Parts: sequence; C-alpha cells; structure tokens
Amino acid sequence: MSTDTSTASSNLLTLNVALGERSYPIVIGPGLIGDGERLAASLAGRQVMVVTNDSVAEHYLERLTSSLPDSLEVRTLILPDGEVHKTFASVERIWDALLEAGFNRRSSLVALGGGVIGDMVGFAAACYQRGIDFIQVPTTLLSQVDSSVGGKTGVNHPLGKNMIGAFWQPRAVLIDTDALTTLPSRELSSGLAEVIKYGLIHDQCFLEWLEREMSGLRELNTELLARAIERSCAIKAEIVAADETEQGVRALLNLGHTFGHAIEAYMGYGRWLHGEAVAVGMVMAADLSQRLGWIDAAAVERTRRIIAAAGLPVEAPAEMSVDDFLARMKLDKKNLDSRLRLVLIRSIGAACVHDEAPLEMLKSCIAEFPRR
Ligand SMILES: NC(=O)c1ccc[n+]([C@@H]2O[C@H](COP(=O)([O-])OP(=O)(O)OC[C@H]3O[C@@H](n4cnc5c(N)ncnc54)[C@H](O)[C@@H]3O)[C@@H](O)[C@H]2O)c1
Repeated sequence: MSTDTSTASSNLLTLNVALGERSYPIVIGPGLIGDGERLAASLAGRQVMVVTNDSVAEHYLERLTSSLPDSLEVRTLILPDGEVHKTFASVERIWDALLEAGFNRRSSLVALGGGVIGDMVGFAAACYQRGIDFIQVPTTLLSQVDSSVGGKTGVNHPLGKNMIGAFWQPRAVLIDTDALTTLPSRELSSGLAEVIKYGLIHDQCFLEWLEREMSGLRELNTELLARAIERSCAIKAEIVAADETEQGVRALLNLGHTFGHAIEAYMGYGRWLHGEAVAVGMVMAADLSQRLGWIDAAAVERTRRIIAAAGLPVEAPAEMSVDDFLARMKLDKKNLDSRLRLVLIRSIGAACVHDEAPLEMLKSCIAEFPRR
C-alpha cells in the first residue's frame, strides 16, 4: 500500500491515506472550516455532531456550522479546554449527547480542535454503536501534521497518558491553514517539533528545507506552512499505510516520545506542551545515538540547532533525576517484555527502533544532558 502523490485543485492540496476500504483524503489549504459543502460530501447520513472546546468554539464553531447545508441535522457539543479533560468522562459526555439527540449508526462526529479533541472524538466514534464515521478538522499545527492522521484515538488514564484507546480511521481530514493565525506561538512551535521529527526520521532533504525556511514558518508564511504540512502528512500517511497498527515501522514516528512522555508525565500534563517534551526527547535520542557511534557530534548539534530555531527547549527539566526519567520511560507502550525500546537516529533522515542500548550508557546520557 502506498500514498498517492498529492494533487492541487485551486489552492488546495490533497493527499490520500491508502488503507484499502478505509482510505481517506487529507485536504490542505485556506478556508476549509467555512467549506461546509466539502465537509458534507464526506458524511454518510444527515445527522452530524460537531465537538470542540470552549477556546476553539470562540474562533471557529460558528464559521463551520453556518456553512453546513440546511439538509443536515446539526448538533454541537463544547467541552472544556485542556489535556486534563482528555478523560473517559469527557468521552462519556459525547456519547450522552449522541444518545440524547437520538443519533443513529449513520451519524457522524466532527472533531474541531487540536489533538485533545481529535483523540477523544475519534475514540467516541470508534465505540458509539460499535463505530460511526468521524471527520477531523484539526486546528493546531500539531494536530494538522500528526494526530489527525493515522487513526490513533483515545484518552488518558490517571496511571498513564493515552493508555485507553482504539485504532479508528477518520473519513476525511480537512486542514484549514487559516486556523493557524489564531494559534499561540508556543503551540505553533510545539507543532514544529513534530514537523522536524519527519525530517529527522525519514527525509533529509525536508530537514534541509526546514533549516532554510524556519523563520518564514514561524512568521506564519501560509505557502511555507502548507508545504510543511503537506510533506509531514505525506510521510505520516506513507508510514501509516505500511503499518496501520504499529507492528513495525510506525514506531519510528515516536522519535523523542519515550523521553518526552517521561517529561510530560513527571512535570504534569500541561506545564510542558507535548511538542516541547518531544523536542527535548529528540535531542536526547540524538545524544544516545552518538554514544552508540551511529552519528557524530555535528549531527547532534544540527538536531539541537533546528529544534532551538523552532523556538523549542533543548534542555531537560532541572528537577528530573535519572531515576525519574527511567521510572516513567519503563511505562512506555513501545516496550515489549521488560526491554526499553527507543527510537534512535541511524543517520539524519533515517531512524530505527533499538532495545539494546546498555543501561549504563542510557543513564550517562540522561545524567549528563543539559538541564534548564
Ligand atoms: N493520535 C495521535 O496520533 C496523536 C499524535 C500526537 C499527539 N497526540 C495527542 O494530541 C494532544 C496534543 O494536541 P495539541 O498540541 O493540538 O493540543 P490541544 O488540543 O490541547 O490544543 C492546544 C491548545 O490550543 C488551542 N487551540 C486549538 N486550535 C486553536 C486555534 N486555531 N487557535 C487558537 N487556539 C487553538 C486549544 O484549545 C488548546 O488550548 C495530546 O493529547 C497528544 O497525546 C495524538
């Protein structure tokens, strides 16, 4: 299976996630939140519930719902904003609303928001009446380049992030680049961490392009952003099409995430953004890759430099000891049996999963890593 090359119609770019019967388009460009006809074309029935949070609703809910055709039965549900609300209780509210509205198996959910909303709405769709359609309308850069594509859905459990969930693919992903104009710059940088990740794991030329264009991206140059989103989604779509349920190559998308999840969990979700924690995690992964003799100091420095240029942290939290890291890294879902599995950098543009880094080497890497 593979992804189609992208096609451009007017100022929109379209990619295809090739998953047989569950294939779906990713459409990228300006104005998509107000293009209700396009959204409606992806719906199986006429009942649709748009789920968002209070911050995103303020900017985009009316724009989306008012553009939907009158023939649809449209409901909305506004959840509280924040990773702390990415819980089973929030998903129950979605099911309650669907049941109270009498929505049937041909109804659809629309996720309007960042990764938190997208993950919860996808999970709600996976379970409601044993599975209904959902459409992703991601509004953060992180959700546009990562969480809205690939079908990983779920919620956090008090004992671990994203521990409860399902694989459930959307019917379509509509990425409105205009939404980035209201995104706080810290959130933009968080999304850039995932964009940089694609270059590091899969595409050296893309990384070089990012090194050249980083300031334009941070200044919200829409053409550059659309290109970065398109390339990121194309790489993610290719990897997901090859390994939908993460039996192999999909794990490479987790570069920096084992270290990063440890930081997020230790610091308390929300204090460090996901992309910020992943950013430091990628530098730590590069450091460990150098210790294993795979890359040289210049490659580690290059990784550090592009991450810093994106406005992201490159130092770990001062309060985290080696044991704090290791205790949380051991909870990672990638681990099999008792072995710690890490995604590391083989060379810039190529990653691998490795479970044989000597523990003493890993401990030195964490202990000697710069702190902020
Ligand atoms: N499913 C996956 O494959 C996958 C991959 C990566 C991350 N994730 C998950 O995604 C979540 C993080 O996603 P996120 O970074 O989008 O966080 P988020 O959904 O919390 O959004 C970040 C903040 O930006 C606000 N916001 C969203 N769009 C906005 C806009 N256009 N203008 C102004 N404000 C806006 C949100 O209300 C929120 O306050 C985590 O829960 C993570 O686990 C999932």
